Amino acid sequence: MEQNKVIQHFAKQADDYEKLMTRLVPQYLEQHQIIYTLLPNEDRHYRVLDLGCGNGILSELVFQKLPCSYIVGFDLTENMLKAYGQKLSQYSGSFELKQGDFRTDPIGDRYDIIIVGLTLHHLNWEERERFYKILFSSLNYGGFFIARDIIIDENKDVMEDQYGYWKEFMKSKGEDPDLWYSKHIEKDHPMTLSDHFRWLEQAGFSKIACQWRLYNFAITTAQRKN
Ligand SMILES: C[S@@+](CC[C@H](N)C(=O)[O-])C[C@H]1O[C@@H](n2cnc3c(N)ncnc32)[C@H](O)[C@@H]1O
Repeated sequence: MEQNKVIQHFAKQADDYEKLMTRLVPQYLEQHQIIYTLLPNEDRHYRVLDLGCGNGILSELVFQKLPCSYIVGFDLTENMLKAYGQKLSQYSGSFELKQGDFRTDPIGDRYDIIIVGLTLHHLNWEERERFYKILFSSLNYGGFFIARDIIIDENKDVMEDQYGYWKEFMKSKGEDPDLWYSKHIEKDHPMTLSDHFRWLEQAGFSKIACQWRLYNFAITTAQRKN
């Protein structure tokens, strides 16, 4: 999908983003409890990148568990960044917002934590390998990477079944499953867990793990040791 179509798509969603996500992503809110648990336990002055931060839903989790952190919220869509500024106004001074396209613009460096939610699937196959290396080199030694994203199964039949479960879920929430499925097929580049792990490994990450998975969604973690 072209960059301006992605912007239009998310600009429309900015106002009601979280409610919409609970109707489109199974266990969207429950995932936040898992991500909260996976974040480090010790509160330090972490420098954090929230890539594709949207309205700041994951940054909010970081501030709740690690209030001494400083967060860079990076996103393409102006309306999303506006919503972030409003949602997290109580933490102003502890975050900065950068508008840009992570495929072409610098994402910064010296991060202790990089968190990416529902965003990596915007990268096409050619962009992946290079971008995972950028993620790795943007982390400090010991840095922690956490991603939740659309993950498709390696087995085509399982993948089809899981798309079916996802459509059932959206239908049960009153959404049009065929509309959202066709948008997904048109604009996204979903990866398998094997692809994701291979790119992480090739970039230099270790302790690569899948921490949670349901249908075509997963939460994964990895670490930059040195
Ligand atoms: C589905 S939202 C995810 C928001 C939040 N991270 C979450 O987990 O719910 C995806 C976000 O990624 C942003 N995005 C998509 N492509 C991008 C790109 N190439 N560069 C920067 N941000 C991008 C969109 O503007 C949108 O705010």
